[in-house]
Amino acid sequence: MPKVFITRKIPEAGTEKLKKAGYEVEVNPEDRVLKKEELISFLKRGKYDAVLVLLTDKLDAEVFEAAGKQCKIFANMAVGFDNVEVAAAKKVGIMVANTPGVLTDTVAEHTFALMLAIAHRIAEGDRFSRAGKYHGWEPMLLLGADVSRKTLGILGLGRIGSRVAHHAARGFDMKVLYYDVKRNEDFEKEFSAQYRLAAEEVLREADFVSIHVPLLPSTHHLIDAKRLKMMKPTAYLINTSRGPVIDEKALAEALKKGVIKGAAIDVFENEPRIEPELLKLENVILTPHIASATQETRAKMAELAAENIILALAGQTPPNLIK
Ligand code: GLV
Repeated sequence: MPKVFITRKIPEAGTEKLKKAGYEVEVNPEDRVLKKEELISFLKRGKYDAVLVLLTDKLDAEVFEAAGKQCKIFANMAVGFDNVEVAAAKKVGIMVANTPGVLTDTVAEHTFALMLAIAHRIAEGDRFSRAGKYHGWEPMLLLGADVSRKTLGILGLGRIGSRVAHHAARGFDMKVLYYDVKRNEDFEKEFSAQYRLAAEEVLREADFVSIHVPLLPSTHHLIDAKRLKMMKPTAYLINTSRGPVIDEKALAEALKKGVIKGAAIDVFENEPRIEPELLKLENVILTPHIASATQETRAKMAELAAENIILALAGQTPPNLIK
């Protein structure tokens, strides 16, 4: 019976799917991230045929080596796979898969929730009310900014960026600008969106900038002090991609000095650490990497990761193989 290891408890839909496929499934008994040495010792002991991993697992050559020759696949239960050294896996003949598609709607919703929340000062207003500071309606109390008909700048026009653009154009009559390494003229026609040749142009023009790029050497600190200064002082920055795309210290400084108006971010440069300066600020919303965290979507992600394993172990190409 093939053996599958899951590095941490996941929604039952995924575990059940693997069991129904006839595998022996072992789950890390502790509900926490395994240290690399711990993961390696599980892998060496268990001799698994497949491993279902999470974005909090850092997977390099040593880990793949430890997995052994019988191991066919590491299925990452995430769309992003910057936690995996894919080339190192390939070198020892291990496939890597991710879970694109199933989380697009949810992450786009969270992105929009962040955008509306920072513009309408929702979190700040909630803190204000709970602190007993509300003493009656005031004409100038907690004035925010409208989202409707403003300009949204998308950096990275993949599935999630496109879905955010859809909500912006269709729901809020926003003007959509985007920068991506690849131009998409069909998208432009569909949403009357405009392409910009450089991220800097988007930063200069947009009222809201939303980041949807993968984390790569070329996108590390894509938003740094210099680029923050290019943004309008009235602009807001939203990030639901990966933390290291933004220089977090530079962001805290820019928010403190009023270089930009506000930010709402779901991801951090050195998770789970959050830059302490950000914690002191009112004009930033910080959610704990939960953009895909709905019951429905996490179940679908777990199922899709399981499906990738099932196909790989059946000798087929998993649907979301990372090439
Ligand atoms: C979440 O961050 C994911 O990449 O799925």
